[in-house]
Amino acid sequence: MKTLSTFYQGKKVLITGNTGFKGAWLSQLLLSFGASVSGLALEPNTEPNLFSTLGLRETCKTHIGDIRDPKIVEQAIDEEEPEIIFHLAAQPLVRDSYDNPRYTFETNLLGTLNVLEAVRRKDFVKAVVIITTDKVYKNKEAEEGYTEKEELGGYDPYSASKVCVEFIAESYKNAFFNPERNPSCLICTARAGNVIGGGDWSKDRLIPDIIKSVFETKDKTIIRSPKAIRPWQHVLEPLSGYLLLGKRLWKGDKTTVGAWNFAPERENMITVEKLLKKGIDILGQGSYIVNEATQDKKHETTILRLDATKAKEALSWKPNLSIDKTLQLTFSWYKTFYTDREMIKQETMQQITSFFGEKGP
Ligand SMILES: NC(=O)c1ccc[n+]([C@@H]2O[C@H](COP(=O)([O-])OP(=O)(O)OC[C@H]3O[C@@H](n4cnc5c(N)ncnc54)[C@H](O)[C@@H]3O)[C@@H](O)[C@H]2O)c1
Repeated sequence: MKTLSTFYQGKKVLITGNTGFKGAWLSQLLLSFGASVSGLALEPNTEPNLFSTLGLRETCKTHIGDIRDPKIVEQAIDEEEPEIIFHLAAQPLVRDSYDNPRYTFETNLLGTLNVLEAVRRKDFVKAVVIITTDKVYKNKEAEEGYTEKEELGGYDPYSASKVCVEFIAESYKNAFFNPERNPSCLICTARAGNVIGGGDWSKDRLIPDIIKSVFETKDKTIIRSPKAIRPWQHVLEPLSGYLLLGKRLWKGDKTTVGAWNFAPERENMITVEKLLKKGIDILGQGSYIVNEATQDKKHETTILRLDATKAKEALSWKPNLSIDKTLQLTFSWYKTFYTDREMIKQETMQQITSFFGEKGP
């Protein structure tokens, strides 16, 4: 905690996608470290949402605008003059990418392109961390985890768009931010798996589906792929990795340029059904049905594991939370939200403090 919080104290950081689930956690985290945080994103697209719940509109200057528009991106960067940018804005849902492939490609590709184009004309930005996904790897349904050297190849439009983001980043790294030529800015990409935690109400994601059915519709949760194994990790785990990357890039560490996997330990890789059962136990309520019929033609992979050895060895990053602790933090957050909403900011801050205070990097 100390080294990261000391480093980020007073730093000017811009987060694209700060109105979303991960962006809101990252904003709150950086604010708690004393950073000056700004953002660029669309208005939150769920109700409730974490951005409003944490009052981030008041604490974080947010440029509401479409990242596909280069002028909007350049204007936000010019006005904020950030030293570090975390680029999270994206259309992040696989299933939506089948309904809106063009929008997915445009947002994810043009968004990245616009950020990097703006950055290459400024000398105040020193670090850009670009968030992609575990889904950039060509899925071989392999038992062992994918390392950063593995072949890329997204199956669905979302995954393919993030593969394109990786290639854009690689090209800009070579052409404009080449570490061998001492550029004013260094960039890297970060790939993480299924991220969970309080404050996500996105559609077609397991935890929000469970929460909505328990606390809102009072229906059974319908699950499509009970046997699918996912590398579940609490949102603070990859975020701590992103922060380490931002810090090292800012310091000019050339070895940080490139791609990084962040993944939980193997024991966190459990099936959808097992996760659901544990969640129902923690909440003390809820039930589910398996409906294979909703397994429509929208292909979803069954096994996806990442190998985070590189981050462990080179960044001294390590996952801190067991699957039980991960689920405890996640479900207890929602329980507080629905039963004692005034305490939710305190609960969020407690989770941040105990994660970074006790075991964090
Ligand atoms: N949540 C996960 O499990 C997960 C897993 C792997 C990768 N990721 C990646 O992490 C990042 C954040 O994901 P999230 O779960 O917080 O998603 P989210 O949907 O909660 O947030 C997405 C953010 O991007 C912004 N955005 C979307 N389209 C935009 C546009 N056209 N212009 C400006 N802003 C736009 C939204 O306003 C929002 O702030 C994404 O890049 C996503 O691909 C997420």
